[in-house]
Formats: sequence, structure tokens, C-alpha cells
Amino acid sequence: MFQSDLLQDKCILITGGGTGLGKSMGRRVLELGARLVICGRRQGVLEETREEFDEAFPNRTRAIPCDLRDPAQVEAMVNRIWDEGSLDALVNNAAGNFLARTESLSPRALDAVLAIVMHGTAYVTLACGKRWLAEGHPGNVLSIVATYAETGSPFVVPSAMAKAGVLAMTRSLAVEWGGRGIRLNAIAPGPFPTEGAWARLVPNEAMNRAWMNKIPLGRVGEHRELTDLVAYLLAEGSAYINGEVVTIDGGEWLKGAGQFSLMENLSPEDWAAMKAR
Ligand code: HXC
Repeated sequence: MFQSDLLQDKCILITGGGTGLGKSMGRRVLELGARLVICGRRQGVLEETREEFDEAFPNRTRAIPCDLRDPAQVEAMVNRIWDEGSLDALVNNAAGNFLARTESLSPRALDAVLAIVMHGTAYVTLACGKRWLAEGHPGNVLSIVATYAETGSPFVVPSAMAKAGVLAMTRSLAVEWGGRGIRLNAIAPGPFPTEGAWARLVPNEAMNRAWMNKIPLGRVGEHRELTDLVAYLLAEGSAYINGEVVTIDGGEWLKGAGQFSLMENLSPEDWAAMKAR
């Protein structure tokens, strides 16, 4: 889909880049010539991913352990990145989430998600943004949100609150920083299964079937479809896109919103009877 040097020599930080979708994004930007920094809480997982990437793309990946909930760790990580040269783009991918009835949540449960998704994302964005502004260096921030950042969603309320906050940050800073060389966008993915999140969010086969029915295209997304969108939004060719959220969900959220979506369950006989009436 792209020239193989689309992201040549761009240095890109992907938070939560050791596993799941973040790892898939990392592999794709390496294929397109970027240099990569991945961070996450677990050093072992990060190192494994770095070694795997090094086999195919030698010496182009750095792994820095960092708990994004701690602003001091974020500052230390960003300092380490800038010690070895500047950064060109940040992908806010790290997230935490679980399904729960909201009335069962303790304050610590709320904080567990908000601290990673909203505070952590803001800490990293500010740490990078301040440096870019001070140096007059262009910057590109891409945040992974969710379609429920706009609609809200039951049973994932802390995540919906946090993703809505990240989207508000994206749109606000797109205006505040856009004229100073930094653009910010977001992607709202639908279902892109990963080992970690999918097992947590789609707990059984019946739920999996119900989920497929929600999606007009009748299938989940392939990682490559998402990672190509990430690559496009990180590339110079998308330079005029600023403050946007791009949905990539096979039409899932629109189907949920459409008042007559449930009519898909009518049989040809039902339609004929309705027409006759
Ligand atoms: C109710 C829960 C809970 C649950 C944890 N808590 N899980 N409460 N239901 N299922 C409560 C705990 O009881 C505790 O409160 C508090 O939350 C903190 O729990 P810890 O386990 O100590 O927290 P922590 O180690 O910080 O881990 C929390 C987490 C974890 C980071 C959110 O679930 C996690 O590591 N998740 C993996 C990352 C992940 O889910 N990524 C996918 C994101 S997908 P008390 O009061 O008891 O001490 C996404 C978009 C989805 O974001 C879009 C789909 C289409």
C-alpha cells in the first residue's frame, strides 16, 4: 500500500508497544523505515519484543520500561529519548480496561483505568510537546481512542471517560499547537482482536457471535488494516489532517446508532407482508 521508505528515519515512540496492537504498529512502522521506541510497564515483555524486532530490523528499536501513571518515570523516559536525538512522532496506544457493572467499581478501580488512559496519555503528550515547542521541532501525536469516546458505553465507564478526555485533548491541542508545527489526531478502532484485551472484553463464544452481528462487514478488523492507517497518519502525506478522529470499525458504531438497523432480522416474507399492508 505504501512506498517502503514512507517513514524513513522518523523516530516514533509507541506507548504500550511491547504487546497487542502497539506491537503490530511497531512492526509496521519499522517495515516502513522508522526508528522505534517502545515503552511499557514490564521490562521482560519489552525486551522480548525488541529482540524479535532486532532480528528483522537490526538496531532500530529501543525499549524503555516506564509506568505512564508516574510523571517522574515519564519525564525520565522522554529525557532518555531526547538524549539520543529528537523524536518525530508519538503514538498514545497504552491503555487499561475491564468490563464491570459501574456500581461495583471502587475509587481505586476508577483510578486504575483513568490513571493509565487519561493521565498517562496527557503526561507523555505534554512531555514530548514541551520539548518540540522549545526546539521548534515538528511533532505528530496520534492517540488510539475508541468509538465510545463519542457515544459513551455501559460497562466500560472509566475507559469511556478516559478516551473522551483523550479525544478532547487531541482536539484542543490540535488548535493550540497546530500553528507551531505539532498536529494531533486520533483513531477510533472497532474490534481488532489481541490476546490480552479480546479475552477480557469478549469473554465467551456466544458473546463473540453477538459481536459479529453488530458489525456490518461481519468480521473483525485485521491488524494490518489498522497499522496502515497509523502509518498514513504518521506520514508527511497526511500533513493537513489535524484534530481529526478516524473511525475504523467496519461500520459497527453506525449500525448500533441506526434506528432501523434491527430490520435486518426481517425475512423476505415479512418484507412482502409489510409492502402489501
Ligand atoms: C471490578 C476491578 C476489575 C474488574 C480490577 N478492578 N479489575 N473492579 N471489575 N474486572 C479493581 C480492583 O479490585 C482494584 O480496586 C482496582 O481495580 C485496581 O486493580 P489492580 O489489579 O491493582 O490494578 P492494576 O494492576 O493497575 O490493573 C488494572 C488494569 C488491568 C491495568 C486496568 O486490568 C490490566 O492490566 N489490563 C490490561 C490492559 C488492557 O486491558 N488493555 C486493553 C485495553 S482495550 P480495589 O478497590 O479492589 O483495590 C481498550 C479499548 C477497548 O481500552 C475497545 C474495544 C473495542
